[in-house]
Amino acid sequence: MSAIQEVQGEVIWLTGASTGIGRALAIKLASQGNTVIASARGQQALNELAAEHDNIIPLAFDISREDQIETVRKQLLEHSGHLDRVVLNAGTCEYLDIDQPDWTMMQRVMTVNYFGTINSLAVAMPLLEASARPHIVGVVSLSTVVPFSRAEAYGSSKAALQYFFDSLRVDLVKKNIDVTVINPGFVKTPLTDKNDFSMPFLMSSEEAADRMANAIAKRPAQFDFPGRLKWILKALGFIPAFWNKVIAPSLSVK
Ligand SMILES: NC(=O)c1ccc[n+]([C@@H]2O[C@H](COP(=O)([O-])OP(=O)(O)OC[C@H]3O[C@@H](n4cnc5c(N)ncnc54)[C@H](OP(=O)(O)O)[C@@H]3O)[C@@H](O)[C@H]2O)c1
Repeated sequence: MSAIQEVQGEVIWLTGASTGIGRALAIKLASQGNTVIASARGQQALNELAAEHDNIIPLAFDISREDQIETVRKQLLEHSGHLDRVVLNAGTCEYLDIDQPDWTMMQRVMTVNYFGTINSLAVAMPLLEASARPHIVGVVSLSTVVPFSRAEAYGSSKAALQYFFDSLRVDLVKKNIDVTVINPGFVKTPLTDKNDFSMPFLMSSEEAADRMANAIAKRPAQFDFPGRLKWILKALGFIPAFWNKVIAPSLSVK
C-alpha cells in the first residue's frame, strides 16, 4: 500500500466499538487526535474503553432499535454539532445448520447487520451534512466475493450492505459526501473466535485497524484487505463449480 495517511482533529462516530475491530479502530483513531464517539450495546465495555484512552466518548446504542434514532441523535448532538465521519462497523454473525435450520436467524442477522446499519446512518446523516467534508464508512466483508458454507444469513446481510453503500455513493455525489466500503478478510476478534474452520491470512484487530485507519484517511470507494485473500477469492469466483464442490466445503473442515 502507498504512503500512510492519518485522520486528525475530526469528530468520528464509530459503531461496534466495544470489542474486536471496532475497539482497535477506536483506539487508533483517538490516538491520532480525533474525538471518537464509541457505540455498542455494552455500556460497561464502552466506559472502560473511554476510561483507558483519551478522546473517546462512550454512547450506548443498540443499532437494531429504530425507535432510538431520535434519542441517539440528540445524545450525539450533546457532544458535537457535527460529525466528520461515521464508521458503520457494528455487526453480528450466526451460521445456518442446514440439517436443523433455524430460518428465523436470517431475520435476526439482517436486523442487526443491514437494518441496524441503516438505523445508524439515519442517526448520523443530519450531523454529517453539518460537516465541511463528510465521509461514510461501511464495514462489509470479503465474504461477499464468493459464497461461504453456512453463511446464508451473514453473507447475504453483507452483500445487501455492499449494494446499499454502492448505490448510496451514487446519490451522495451531489452532496459531496464520500462513501467507502471496507471489506476485511479474517480478523481475530470475539466474532471469529467462534469459527471452527480455517481462516487464511488471519490478522490481529490492531493490524486490521491500522490498515482501516489508513484507508479511511484516503477515502477510496472501496478498500479490500488483505489483498492476497481478495485476489485468491476473486480468481476462485471464476471457477464456481470447483469453489462450490471442492474448495468451499473443504474450508468448513478444520
Ligand atoms: N472479524 C472478521 O474477520 C471480520 C471480517 C469481515 C467483516 N467483519 C465485520 O467487522 C465488524 C466488526 O466485527 P468484529 O469481528 O470486530 O466483531 P465483534 O468483536 O463481535 O464486534 C462486534 C461489535 O458490534 C457490536 N454490536 C453487535 N450487535 C450490536 C447491536 N445490535 N447494536 C450495537 N452494537 C452491536 C458489539 O458490541 P455489543 O455486543 O456490546 O453490542 C461489538 O462492539 C462486523 O460488521 C463484522 O461483520 C469482521
